[in-house]
Formats: sequence, C-alpha cells, structure tokens
Amino acid sequence: MNTFNNAIESLKPSASIKYIEKAKIMKMNGENVIGLSGGDPDFPTPKKICDAAYDGMVNKHDTHYTLGAGIPEFREKIAKKLREENHINCTKDNILVTPGGKIAIYTAVRSLLNPGDEVLCPEPNWVSYEPIISASYGVPVSLGLSYEDNYRISEKLLEDATTEKTRLIIINYPCNPTGKILHEDEALELVSYLKKHPDVLILSDEIYEKVIFDGNKHISLASFSEIADQVITINGFSKCAAMTGWRLGYACASETVLKHMIQLWQHMMTCTSGFIQDGGMTALDCHEEMAEMCRIYQQRRDAFIDRLNEIPCVTCEKPEGTFYAWVKFNIPNMSSYEICDYLLDNAKVSGVPGDAYGKGGANCMRFSFANSMEDLMEAADRIKKALEKLN
Ligand SMILES: Cc1ncc(COP(=O)(O)O)c(C=O)c1O
Repeated sequence: MNTFNNAIESLKPSASIKYIEKAKIMKMNGENVIGLSGGDPDFPTPKKICDAAYDGMVNKHDTHYTLGAGIPEFREKIAKKLREENHINCTKDNILVTPGGKIAIYTAVRSLLNPGDEVLCPEPNWVSYEPIISASYGVPVSLGLSYEDNYRISEKLLEDATTEKTRLIIINYPCNPTGKILHEDEALELVSYLKKHPDVLILSDEIYEKVIFDGNKHISLASFSEIADQVITINGFSKCAAMTGWRLGYACASETVLKHMIQLWQHMMTCTSGFIQDGGMTALDCHEEMAEMCRIYQQRRDAFIDRLNEIPCVTCEKPEGTFYAWVKFNIPNMSSYEICDYLLDNAKVSGVPGDAYGKGGANCMRFSFANSMEDLMEAADRIKKALEKLN
C-alpha cells in the first residue's frame, strides 16, 4: 500500500479556491454567477510592465537561469524601494526574489522551523499560513482577535500564547480578510514584545501594501531598527500591480536568515524567471498606475459597502486597505459556511465563509471588490433579495 506524508495529507483544502472553483463550474454550466471569492485584480497588468518583460525575453534574452537570489540590479532596486518607501535599512544582500509571495512565505517558514516549533497566528488570517506551518512540521497557535475590538493586536495577547517553543509570529497588514492596517500603537506593542523575545522572529506579509485607503499610511514593522533583524518582510507584485499570473514576489530578511532560506531555495526553485524580473523592475516605477487602481478600489469599496449596509441583517465596516469587504451577517442558526452556500445557490454570488479564516470569522463572509462596479452593485442587490426570503 502507498503511504503519503502525514503532514501534507492532513492539510485543510483552501476554502477560497473551493468557492472560486464552485462558482466557475456553475458559470460553465450556464448559471449567471458573480464571482467575488477570489483575490485577483480585474485590471490588466500595466502595459509598460508587459513591454519590459517582452524586451527582456526577446531582446535581452533573459530566458536562462538567473543568479539564485535574483538579478542583482533588481534586488538593488527592491532594496532601494524598501529603504525609501518603507524605511527598512537593507541592501540587495537582504533580498530574495521569488515566484510570488506565497513561496517566499513557505521558504521562510520551512527554513526556520524545527519539528514542534510553535508559530503564533493572529486570526482571522489568510488561509495558507497555517497549512504552510503544518507542512513545515510546525505547530500553528491561533490567537483569536476580536471583531468587537476591531481585531486589535496586543503584546498581552502574544505574551499569553508564548511558550518556550514559540519561534515565529505571522502578521499581515493590510489584512486579508479584514482589511485592517497596522496602526502605530499596535506596531509599538509588537516591537515591545519582540525586544523581550530576541529569539522569536516575525514574518510580516505586506503584499497589499499599496491598496490603502483614505490617505492612511502603511507601516512596515522592519522600519523599527531595534527589532529589524527579527523581521522577515514579504512583498510582491500580484495584488498591487495586478500581476497575479506573473508569479513575482520577494523576501527581505537579515543576512543570516536569508542565508538559510537560500540554502533551501537552491534545491527547490533555483531562481525566478529573468524576463519576469525585468517586468518587475518596471513595476517598481509604476507608482501612478498603482495609485490609480487604488483610487478605483476605494470608489468601489464605498459604493459596495454602502449598498450592503442597507440590508437589515448586514454590517460591514469600510476596510482601511485590501480589496476585500468583510461582512458580518446577523442571521441566527446559520454558520458562515451555510450563509456562503445559501448565497451562492440563491443569489448566485460567491464569497468565502469567514470561518475559513480561523477564529474571529464566525458569521462573517469575505467578498472581493476587485470586480466591476456594475457587478458589485448587482451582487449587493441579489444578496439583499436572497436574504429577504429568509425572513
Ligand atoms: C495575505 C496574502 N499573502 C500572500 C499571498 C500570495 O500572493 P502571491 O503568491 O500571488 O504573491 C496572498 C494571495 O492571495 C495573500 O492574500
């Protein structure tokens, strides 16, 4: 009989992928479904990024292996961006270029953990962190943040969950799914905790960095110099530059941490495609294009959430960042999975159940507003009608 890896066999399937696929199959069968489950921008990748990749492929012949950690010029440009925009004191020797943020997270987690090491995961959080930890033989420790407290993170919460096995914390701001950003007072709580626990590292996933609304500013945890060496910053181009299919991201970490990540990397990925990195070089300059996408997301956020809030059993705060609406349903006796299935079957609108994001997600659903205004308005109207039938 075949045997398989126990850690992999016990991983939970991704709920967002499940609902994206379910909606796609319904569409293929001719049903008029509005798919708001996925996290893929509906904008095309800016043309100048495509031109740079084309030039890299056709004229520069960047179609071979690159240096493992990435093209030096690209790593230098990423480091410059992090110094200037994020106030992180780094050089190209702190940067690993990867095919997407997800594999950067996996490489970091897999190269840091020993079996049984604990990782603190404030929840609700992105569906892949805990499977990545489990696949790396680590133990995810979920910390339920409270909806009523606006999902505030505190030193006490971390302290209460800390044991001698705590090795890592994973945070994500702007947060998928809640849309919350990191505020200065919370950053200071994290800094204070990390100063007291110099052997604990923190992975800060900042992949939605440029999707921030109302003039708010993004704070990178690694900008606090006292704890900078304990932080692994993850970023990428999927969400902010509409480049999900390109697979391009990066990690910024201390040279010691990066050395260990590259040890695994060499045997796992070799490198990221050269012409994709050429596209990334140009993406780093696309400030106006990214700001324009963000401006449009904000318009959609306002209109979609106002419309949802007209529904009597719905409450939705405006997210400070990301392109997700985190919607709370006051429907007794229905779990978030049941609400999600009900809306898919009856309103033909797909979202993701809040419980898929861990503790703190009960009665909630996540809907992506990286979709046209027309679809969003139609989706809100359909949700309203379907919920009226419940009463
Ligand atoms: C919070 C978060 N981190 C990381 C990723 C990974 O993005 P990618 O691998 O496309 O760069 C995603 C994608 O959905 C995400 O939502």
